Amino acid sequence: MSELSVKHLLGIKYLKESDIQLIFETADHFKEVINRSIKKVPSLRDITIANIFFENSTRTKLSFELAEKRLSADVLNFSASQSSVKKGETLIDTVNNILSMKVDMVVMRHPNPGAGIFLSKHVEASIVNAGDGAHEHPTQALLDSYSIREKLGDVAGKNVVIVGDILHSRVALSNIFALKLQGANVKVCGPKTLLPKYIDSLGVGVETNLRKALEWCDVANMLRIQNERLDISYFPTTREYTQQFGVNKKLLDSLDKEVVIMHPGPINRGVEITSDVADSKQSIILNQVENGVAIRMAVIYLLASKIK
Ligand code: CP
Repeated sequence: MSELSVKHLLGIKYLKESDIQLIFETADHFKEVINRSIKKVPSLRDITIANIFFENSTRTKLSFELAEKRLSADVLNFSASQSSVKKGETLIDTVNNILSMKVDMVVMRHPNPGAGIFLSKHVEASIVNAGDGAHEHPTQALLDSYSIREKLGDVAGKNVVIVGDILHSRVALSNIFALKLQGANVKVCGPKTLLPKYIDSLGVGVETNLRKALEWCDVANMLRIQNERLDISYFPTTREYTQQFGVNKKLLDSLDKEVVIMHPGPINRGVEITSDVADSKQSIILNQVENGVAIRMAVIYLLASKIK
């Protein structure tokens, strides 16, 4: 297969396993490119991309912008907090105004689940979901699986535990879809109050004891408590959460194997992960960020090749 089965990247839910493999093979090529002395290719000289962010971001925003520039696309950056959205303009009006400037692709982060799906039904441009509320964050899941593949050789057959605030995490849902599509065994681990009621329907195991989860897994993906989405208290205190679900060096050293530690960022150091773990050789957190550029170059390149 040499092209994606989709016109937009709205979620991992809409991808086939062959799409993921095509993205990874394309990212392998771009990873080699961005490690050369000349890091830029002219592939998307005729393409214009708007990055529109209605929520804060460091990694995703910079990574998309760098990926687009490495592909020689023209790039527009739009931050909702400094725009006419503040004067009451609707999402469709905002995007149609941007598209009337001959924009081909929109990368959007939005607090509302399904915002990208809604937009894709109302505008002509190709839409890339850069995180929609607590729903999906597809490029994060792709770069996470790509980093596991790079570290362990394959994703199929690996045991992966996702730890923390599963209920509010778009990273968790996209990772579950991506990992299962590739044949990994997936468990989630966290306080019962932070596991969604529908978790069994996703075909993952549930473990509420972190030590047991770590004894089982090859990879632990540690998630941040999504404080900005917590409407009530889901656990007694942060200290108790850390005692039960935080990973520290002593706990990892007491296991009879080396677990690969991941985190999508931003990290709450000392809450879900201690600094000595985040900065250890077991951690591939910065490899994830590095791989994000190659993965986003691959996604943009493949979607752009479908634009007529
Ligand atoms: N991982 C991630 O989405 O980070 P940002 O919120 O900084 O983009």
